[in-house]
Amino acid sequence: MSEVDGHAQPALSSTPARGDTIVSGFRPTGKLHLGHLHGTLTNWVRLQEQYRCFFFVADWHALPTGNVTAEAIRDSTIEMVIDWLSVGLDPAKAVIFRQSDIKEHAELHLLFSMITPTPWLLRNPTVKEQARELGLIQSEDEAEVTKIHYGLLGYPVLQSADILMYKAKWVPVGVDQVPHIELTREIARRFNALYRPIFPEPQALLTEVPKVPGTDGRKMSKSYGNAVLLCDPPEEVDAKLSRMMTDPRRVRRRDPGEPADCPAFNLHRLYCTPEEIEYVSRGCRTAEIGCLECKKVMIRHVLEDLAVFREKRAYWESHRDDVYDVLRQGERQAREVARQTMAEVREVVGV
Ligand code: TRP
Ligand code: SF4
Repeated sequence: MSEVDGHAQPALSSTPARGDTIVSGFRPTGKLHLGHLHGTLTNWVRLQEQYRCFFFVADWHALPTGNVTAEAIRDSTIEMVIDWLSVGLDPAKAVIFRQSDIKEHAELHLLFSMITPTPWLLRNPTVKEQARELGLIQSEDEAEVTKIHYGLLGYPVLQSADILMYKAKWVPVGVDQVPHIELTREIARRFNALYRPIFPEPQALLTEVPKVPGTDGRKMSKSYGNAVLLCDPPEEVDAKLSRMMTDPRRVRRRDPGEPADCPAFNLHRLYCTPEEIEYVSRGCRTAEIGCLECKKVMIRHVLEDLAVFREKRAYWESHRDDVYDVLRQGERQAREVARQTMAEVREVVGV
């Protein structure tokens, strides 16, 4: 049960219903890797079939979290959208757009900032972690946290505007984003109580996300240099995955291993048939197969999969105007909704 205006409300159903509105954004990070594919994109592609989806490039959100050049932002945006389209996000099914094309987000962010107490922002663990990673603060002491600059502190307020603009019920994100979704709910509740109920209280849609470690066994990340990019040429994918870390117990070929302790095996789980899983698991535990042989079984599937992706990517790369058209179409569709929401908002706020 959740509390709204002191009245107990029945808990929202914990699964989306067909036709529910879903919003999610992604900072422009450029070309995407296998971690993004299995962590986010596969899920988005599934969601677009049943829900009213808005997926956008959070380019304003890239500003407070890194020193990025104008060129890098524009370039990363397009490269990322090309990846989205090439994995099967479909502009006929989902609204695909760029955050900064819809200036209404900035206006709603401003209005939300007027009703958001600073302590709600200062306690956000994800913002604090980002600030620490960026070297803006050294610890999470109160005195340190006040050094975080305004844009980063307000990052989740802008995110709340992104979500509430479309009156989304669900926001597919990773667990690190849950504090932002909680803030979104708090802002919605406060706005509704202060003015008039306009906004739903959205929920994070946490989906079981398969683990995809990088080639060194740590989390896959471009900054660690351990990522397999979706657009890597086949030889490179093969080379990277052939080097990928395995169970450290298998020092020599005759040392048995345990798939559960093998970073590479996470990819087997995603790509191999049950028979292949069975075969390599036994081979690993009995040391009947070597790691390279074992990985070859998985690599074949990854390459097959990426070949399809690469073909689609080649199409979009040579039809860049179509990519811009997709963004323009998304902009039109998003703006239509944003205009309506802002008309309601301005009406009740009085400005
Ligand atoms: N903060 C998100 C991230 O870093 C990106 C984002 C911005 C977002 N606005 C959003 C996600 C709205 C979901 C909904 O991944
Ligand atoms: Fe991993 Fe396969 Fe090597 Fe076992 S044999 S450690 S599962 S790569």
